[in-house]
Amino acid sequence: MAGNWKMYKTPAETKAFFDAFLPLVAESKHCEVAICPPFVNIHAAVEAARGTRVGVGAQNLYWKNEGAFTGEISGPMIKAAGAEWAIVGHSERRQFFGETDATVLERTKAALACGLRPIVCVGERLEEREGGRTETVLAEQFGSGIAPLDAESFAKIVIAYEPVWAIGTGKTATPEMAADAHRSLRALVIAKYGAAAGAAVRILYGGSVKPDNVKGLMAQPEIDGALVGGASLDAGSFASIVNF
Ligand code: PGA
Repeated sequence: MAGNWKMYKTPAETKAFFDAFLPLVAESKHCEVAICPPFVNIHAAVEAARGTRVGVGAQNLYWKNEGAFTGEISGPMIKAAGAEWAIVGHSERRQFFGETDATVLERTKAALACGLRPIVCVGERLEEREGGRTETVLAEQFGSGIAPLDAESFAKIVIAYEPVWAIGTGKTATPEMAADAHRSLRALVIAKYGAAAGAAVRILYGGSVKPDNVKGLMAQPEIDGALVGGASLDAGSFASIVNF
């Protein structure tokens, strides 16, 4: 269960979140939990989560380790700040910041090279779904952004299926719609990496996951977890999601 805070919260607000959140999930041993705050809060989050089961992640990373790349932040820097995870290829990166399947692949490799665990996002836009292209789009994103990884690297990533039309809109994919997309992704994994990899890979669903719809989503055997935006900003609501 991963929280994507997007561009919300200061370091002080980060600390306050953890103070409220940690006691609520102290007994939750059924899943891994991660919070991905803005870069400037990673330190505060790592300090607050130290000694707990809650991991911390970044929302992006650049694929070079260092250099003259003004404004960028590298995997080794994120790792040195104490984070463990990195979201890669979120649809907002694709939509607003020129992310492509090729750069998703570069970032994923860079994350793996420094020991970060990538959560690689894929998902179709509304017009693609309405045009009946969901499976094609997922196959393209998987084929160019993920499938070039070797099997050993693939085994270390988590995939997040996030239909773009469901992100921040209050429109969740129905559990059945999400499960269908997860099934096609898993079929792509099996075709490329084999049945064992298909069974082992974790595919998270993201897009307006809330305390009141998480149970239905998680009841689908195809759905292994959630990547949560808006509802991860509030300690009580993200804790109810974790404890579904
Ligand atoms: P949302 O965002 O839960 O606010 O829809 C999900 C995401 O973008 O990861």
